[in-house]
Amino acid sequence: MTFSFWLINAISQALLVGFLVCLAGFDGNRTVEAGIGVNWGDTARQPLPPEIVVRLLQSNNISRVKLFDTKPSVLEALAGTGIEVMIAAPNNLLSRLGGADGEAAAVNWVAQNLTKYLDLNGESVNIKYVAVGNEPFWGENNKTYGHLAFPALTNIQNAIRGAGLEGRVFATIPLSADVVEGKLDPSAGVFRSDIASLMKKIVSSYNRTGSPLVINMYPFLSIVWTPHFPPGYAFFGEHDKTDSLSNLTYTSMFDEMFDLTVAAVKRAGFPRLKIIVGEVGWPTDGIRLANLSNAQKFNNQLLKHLASNSGTPLRPNVTIDAYLFSLLDENVKDLLGGSAPYERHWGIFYQDGTPKYPIDLSGHGESSSWPQAAVGVKYLPRRYCIETPLFAPDPVLLGKRIDFSCAHSDCTALGEGGSCSPLNDSMKASYAFNIYYQFNYQQDSYCNYTTFGAVVTEDPSTETCKFPLGLDYGGCNRGPQVTMKLSLFVLFTFCLSFFFF
Ligand SMILES: *[C@@H]1O[C@H](CO)[C@@H](O)[C@H](O)[C@H]1NC(C)=O
Ligand SMILES: *[C@@H]1O[C@H](CO)[C@@H](O)[C@H](O)[C@H]1NC(C)=O
Ligand SMILES: *[C@@H]1O[C@H](CO)[C@@H](O)[C@H](O)[C@H]1NC(C)=O
Ligand SMILES: *[C@@H]1O[C@H](CO)[C@@H](O)[C@H](O)[C@H]1NC(C)=O
Ligand SMILES: *[C@@H]1O[C@H](CO)[C@@H](O)[C@H](O)[C@H]1NC(C)=O
Ligand SMILES: *[C@@H]1O[C@H](CO)[C@@H](O)[C@H](O)[C@H]1NC(C)=O
Ligand SMILES: *[C@@H]1O[C@H](CO)[C@@H](O)[C@H](O)[C@H]1NC(C)=O
Ligand SMILES: *[C@@H]1O[C@H](CO)[C@@H](O)[C@H](O)[C@H]1NC(C)=O
Ligand SMILES: *[C@@H]1O[C@H](CO)[C@@H](O)[C@H](O)[C@H]1NC(C)=O
Repeated sequence: MTFSFWLINAISQALLVGFLVCLAGFDGNRTVEAGIGVNWGDTARQPLPPEIVVRLLQSNNISRVKLFDTKPSVLEALAGTGIEVMIAAPNNLLSRLGGADGEAAAVNWVAQNLTKYLDLNGESVNIKYVAVGNEPFWGENNKTYGHLAFPALTNIQNAIRGAGLEGRVFATIPLSADVVEGKLDPSAGVFRSDIASLMKKIVSSYNRTGSPLVINMYPFLSIVWTPHFPPGYAFFGEHDKTDSLSNLTYTSMFDEMFDLTVAAVKRAGFPRLKIIVGEVGWPTDGIRLANLSNAQKFNNQLLKHLASNSGTPLRPNVTIDAYLFSLLDENVKDLLGGSAPYERHWGIFYQDGTPKYPIDLSGHGESSSWPQAAVGVKYLPRRYCIETPLFAPDPVLLGKRIDFSCAHSDCTALGEGGSCSPLNDSMKASYAFNIYYQFNYQQDSYCNYTTFGAVVTEDPSTETCKFPLGLDYGGCNRGPQVTMKLSLFVLFTFCLSFFFF
């Protein structure tokens, strides 16, 4: 035990020395230009391969990404690109990182999930931040993760220092907007009373380590959840509000949310603490307000606001760093018990990497220009499943078939106010059958007359409702084509090949 511990220590010391030598030779002058960052999640059936997503980032000059974990394939694709990265230890690791053996767990985590990627065969992933958990104090999360987040943060901070990375890699807990209160006047912002003393310790540790506070802001959710919320105030410059304490004028909910946080960190004793917006964006489907024109308008206004460097009333002329939520749609994301059908539609790109609407990501130019689409995407063949026009099925059975298809795919576009909700019943059934068929890699048994479906080659999409075509990725998730031993064997070797290539 002691010996192997010593050995591991000696090896890691040697690696560290090697790493520092590499650092010395690293081109310190390479500066990544500021600009918008994006959140890159992949809670998707048939997710795009990381190499394609990285090229998508590069072709659109996106130089900062925020991840939700540390998938080796994603980090390997980012190596050598210079793209600045926030990696994450997800909530389900907090009990380990913030528990009894948290110190040692954090040292291991940092070695395996951080330092390792700073030198991958001579190429480096430009990791600047480590997110510890995700919104651990939000709603129900607080019960499970609230008490673990700060110990986990401290252990990761110490492990980062132990690895000699202090001042280069910064640990922070991405927060939900409900950690601050004082909603009538932004200048009255304070940390939520039940976690106020905890937040004070957290921001104090940020001040010591040079980390930013990272907080998510969703004017879209204000408009959805707050009765009588003035719609124009979710956007920029359409509705004014005066802070009755400071007399400052606010023209957007975004500025108000930011200044609420500015006021809270000031009251906690750190008036100059850097604040980064971890997530901000607007979804395009699932409910009425989530549509293409609102998302285009909000995101373009936001990008212009950020690029202007005009700051907010409490921090005028200060650059705000933000990460758009999100890069891509994620069609198996959790819908919070069905209450949030828009959750799968936050992307500025559809899941296949095609842009949804014109948007100027630099914030400096024309908001009528289209971003670059992903290149080299492999689609399944042009085949769609529709409700069979050949006979009229029993409506009860048909209804069951639709429910089943939806329960095993993604029918959020069919929900009230969704992009496919205006279709007639037969088209709605086709939508459900098709997305289920695509989710299952167009296997015959997922669309046949027994299931009231028929395969067609003509795209059934309408002007507003897009029938997705599946992507030829994520092979290991495929169900067996036919229950024959041979095909299982083929599938098995196919999946095995992923381990070796
Ligand atoms: C990316 O930046 C380069 C160089 O500044 C510019 O020529 C190009 O048009 C930009 N591309 C996009 C999609 O903004
Ligand atoms: C590294 O991160 C992955 C993914 O979150 C996790 O499964 C793994 O346990 C981590 N490694 C250590 C040593 O904690
Ligand atoms: C949230 O978690 C913190 C830390 O465990 C705890 O002190 C606080 O009381 C919790 N808040 C609520 C509303 O349960
Ligand atoms: C920490 O806060 C103090 C007091 O506001 C400030 O003087 C100091 O510069 C801060 N340190 C960092 C690293 O920001
Ligand atoms: C805000 O404006 C009111 C009325 O114009 C004035 O009485 C008050 O002193 C002002 N407060 C501040 C903080 O400037
Ligand atoms: C999106 O919703 C807004 C109302 O919030 C409406 O005015 C607009 O026409 C809708 N756009 C589309 C493309 O449906
Ligand atoms: C912010 O910049 C504007 C325009 O450059 C200037 O008029 C204003 O005085 C500046 N405000 C502060 C507080 O520096
Ligand atoms: C439903 O809509 C489709 C396309 O919009 C149309 O071709 C079809 O005839 C309609 N079916 C019924 C039963 O109205
Ligand atoms: C049609 O679908 C049913 C139900 O999934 C399946 O049992 C049957 O084998 C399929 N038929 C063909 C010809 O694929």
